[in-house]
Amino acid sequence: MTKNKIIAANWKMNCSYEKAVALLSQYNTLDSLNNIEVIVFPPSIYLETAAKTLTSEKIKLGIQNVSEYDLGAYTGEISAKMLSRFKCEYVILGHSERRALFDESNEIIAAKFLNAIDSNITPILCVGENQEERLMGRTNAVLGKQLADIINSVGTDKFKHSIIAYEPIWAIGTGKTATAAMVSETNTFIHQFLSEHCPQEIDSISLLYGGSLNDKNAADLLNADYVDGGLIGSASLNFDQFFAICQSA
Ligand code: PGA
Repeated sequence: MTKNKIIAANWKMNCSYEKAVALLSQYNTLDSLNNIEVIVFPPSIYLETAAKTLTSEKIKLGIQNVSEYDLGAYTGEISAKMLSRFKCEYVILGHSERRALFDESNEIIAAKFLNAIDSNITPILCVGENQEERLMGRTNAVLGKQLADIINSVGTDKFKHSIIAYEPIWAIGTGKTATAAMVSETNTFIHQFLSEHCPQEIDSISLLYGGSLNDKNAADLLNADYVDGGLIGSASLNFDQFFAICQSA
């Protein structure tokens, strides 16, 4: 039996309240599509609205970030413990924007990973190389280190049912996409790496691709080897484009 494709929509820090409500209502119409599971990551301030507006069982809710801390005096942070009432089941961790703009190290990402798991939230862990690393043939080494650092900190058992997103940094928000051949090669490497390091968990782990995925390239990229779905940024804000991506999954 083939698995449903996971189509994850990362809205980042976009949308007025009115636009968010309108888009969420449109997302409900994705219910008519088969063989996909949609996860939407709106800005956290809209989570409660999203939980009320999303009526389709096929559309799950996630948060774009959680705190590395538990509870306490951490101004501006959101604890994973606070999310259960929002039907929030997923969190994006290790996104390159968080790594680069907010100095998130693998150590911080690992702490967030553990907090998420403790609150029954499934992490979508992003890994990816920059342009220079790819040109120097270092992609697998970079991805292997990012994965190994988290695995060594949290333990292999915590990877059960987790989701890993391969997101080449040079493809995020740039309009440049990896080719299907590149994605097949890289996701095959990630699958092999995880098979060696997490042999008990590998069958429960899903692998995504993200980086300038759009309605034109989705069919190719989502059907590359070891791709169980996609993580979509800007194209998830345009419902027609997003619908077309979901259709081609
Ligand atoms: P993009 O973003 O689709 O706009 O490139 C992807 C992501 O950051 O997850």
